Amino acid sequence: FSAPPPSTDLITLTRHVLSQQYTLGDNASGDLTLLLTAIQVTSKYIASNVRKARLINLVGLAGEQNVQGEDQKKLDVLSDQIMVNALRASGKCAVLVTEEREEAVFIGQGGDGGEDQRMKGNYCVVFDPLDGSSNIDAGVNVGTIFGIYKVKEGSKGSLGDVLRPGSEMVAAGYTMYGSSCNLVLSTGQGVNGFTLDESLGEFILTHPDIRLPERGKIYSFNEGNSMHFHEPTKKYLESIKFPSNGKPYSARYIGSMVADVHRTLLYGGIFGYPGDKKSPNGKLRILYEAFPMAYLTEQAGGIATTGTQRILDVQPTGIHQRLPVFLGSKEDVQDLISFYEQES
Ligand code: AHG
Ligand code: MN
Ligand code: MN
Ligand code: MN
Repeated sequence: FSAPPPSTDLITLTRHVLSQQYTLGDNASGDLTLLLTAIQVTSKYIASNVRKARLINLVGLAGEQNVQGEDQKKLDVLSDQIMVNALRASGKCAVLVTEEREEAVFIGQGGDGGEDQRMKGNYCVVFDPLDGSSNIDAGVNVGTIFGIYKVKEGSKGSLGDVLRPGSEMVAAGYTMYGSSCNLVLSTGQGVNGFTLDESLGEFILTHPDIRLPERGKIYSFNEGNSMHFHEPTKKYLESIKFPSNGKPYSARYIGSMVADVHRTLLYGGIFGYPGDKKSPNGKLRILYEAFPMAYLTEQAGGIATTGTQRILDVQPTGIHQRLPVFLGSKEDVQDLISFYEQES
């Protein structure tokens, strides 16, 4: 067996995004490409901090609570600061929403008309700087999730530019910090996965055109919440745990949405964080968890629903609003939806 010759034609993330920009014709200003380059840099920087976290005592609590009422981890705070600073410095953003800040960040409205004004751009980035942070101290995969809107025509950058259906996003993606650093991205022309080559400092195209299998064999729910589940959720889970064909699904639940969704995109099946009697809207946040992951799921040929509504059609009313999430292989999610339809 001889190893294949080293590629002399590496497709880096930047090159890939540029190639997609050309398909957008002349009206592509290159601003999105530059914004995605800034996001790439934040992913590399956060990855390096996650990798050495346990060595430089970056694990553990920051001693603060965030708007979610969660104990912020030091890496939550650090990752948030890295992203806000880099996105502001990119000069391509007007509004930022981050899980770790109660209010949105408005750029170029400092009123000083000076440097801040020049830094304002035409995009809004909604992001979860560190997803799955409860898993950090155990060394389990964590990640960063982001979604990108273009500001509305004539807008100076306001909440109205981000409180809109996920279907209006122009791009979405995540970076997963695990055994390797994987960045998965869609700009509306399918889904592509990149792996960080640390020797080059470049994300290399390793998973071109990710497509979800029509049906999978894995379900991914936190069944520790079963006593609170609504009937349709319980009946759906029964149907795949005690199937008439005698072939039950496998259970896989990592507890970091990025890792559970990444596995679902690659292997198929269904991921769910349902609304239940204790938390009617579930746990996951619309703007920076549900919308980006629903966008990627649909771009990969799957379905993402609240159980009764397409997630990307939801009109958010608050930047930290939550909603139920079921996403994955088309046939699996359609099975789930049928149990909700029976109830209504
Ligand atoms: P975050 O760490 O950004 O607050 O997100 C945690 C979320 C998500 O990553 C995961 O799917 C979910 O919390 C797990 O919740 P449970 O521990 O309740 O299952
Ligand atoms: Mn959190
Ligand atoms: Mn999260
Ligand atoms: Mn988070």
